[in-house]
Amino acid sequence: MATALITGGTSGIGAAFGRSLARRGFDLILVARDQAKLDLSAAEFRAIGAPSVETISADLNDRADVATVVDRLSNTAAPVDLLINNAGFGVHFPLVTLDTSVHDRALEVMVRAVLVLGGAAALAMRSRGSGAIINVSSTAGFVTMGSYSAIKAWVTSYTEGLAVELHGSGVAVTALCPGWIRTEFHERANIRTSSIPDALWIDVDRTVEAALRASAKGHVISIPSKRFSTLIWIVRHLPRPAVRAISRKIQSDRSVAEHVDAA
Ligand SMILES: NC(=O)c1ccc[n+]([C@@H]2O[C@H](COP(=O)([O-])OP(=O)(O)OC[C@H]3O[C@@H](n4cnc5c(N)ncnc54)[C@H](OP(=O)(O)O)[C@@H]3O)[C@@H](O)[C@H]2O)c1
Repeated sequence: MATALITGGTSGIGAAFGRSLARRGFDLILVARDQAKLDLSAAEFRAIGAPSVETISADLNDRADVATVVDRLSNTAAPVDLLINNAGFGVHFPLVTLDTSVHDRALEVMVRAVLVLGGAAALAMRSRGSGAIINVSSTAGFVTMGSYSAIKAWVTSYTEGLAVELHGSGVAVTALCPGWIRTEFHERANIRTSSIPDALWIDVDRTVEAALRASAKGHVISIPSKRFSTLIWIVRHLPRPAVRAISRKIQSDRSVAEHVDAA
């Protein structure tokens, strides 16, 4: 039976991956910081069909903890078939600052950990000639809203680079670029969502099913929902000044307070 490792598998998109894969009979490995939530999620996923659920309490902002997850991905006696690099958080903090601590944390969790875990998983999977990696990016990566957009642009571009390196190896690599999904994400980052029209929210379970389908078909970029794939197609064909104007508008609509911390 196949095994999947999900970072941030205790909430939102990661938990939806956990439920979907548990129903398909995957063995699961969940990575997050909060051990109580890990235990609750493990019990839920076992109850709905996961034969086994391991938990790793790790802060992906901590390089020693990331190394622990690398060890698990590199364990040839208990191989991981699917890595979902999902853990992350909103970064609603100005770039015009001397204090880059929030940006530093975001880069560790959403860039460095993705790079290090992706590299370890890819090495193990390529040597076996099979496996899949899904990196949870965002449609925010196609616009210009501070370091969060820059980070997600990196995740999408990195995924394409990894797909190029792994071409023909039997390992599938997919960047999942969702639009707005109701999870703990916005509240945790103090992002106001009242100005986002209901029609622009997408369902978390449908998003995850679309990502798993895209991965099975070997698609490298997945933008779930017709609405968002059309919107992003338009954004990718607009002149950059127009993209920046749209980004300014979204950013001003969702501000709650200045210098709001994330995670
Ligand atoms: N929600 C959206 O609208 C949306 C849209 C596009 C992309 N995304 C992306 O989707 C991914 C998941 O977000 P979500 O909406 O599901 O958020 P969420 O509900 O807040 O879940 C975040 C998960 O990540 C874990 N996590 C956060 N920081 C961590 C750290 N330092 N080390 C280890 N685990 C950590 C959390 O567990 P602990 O707190 O216990 O560590 C939790 O399980 C993120 O990469 C986000 O950028 C979200």
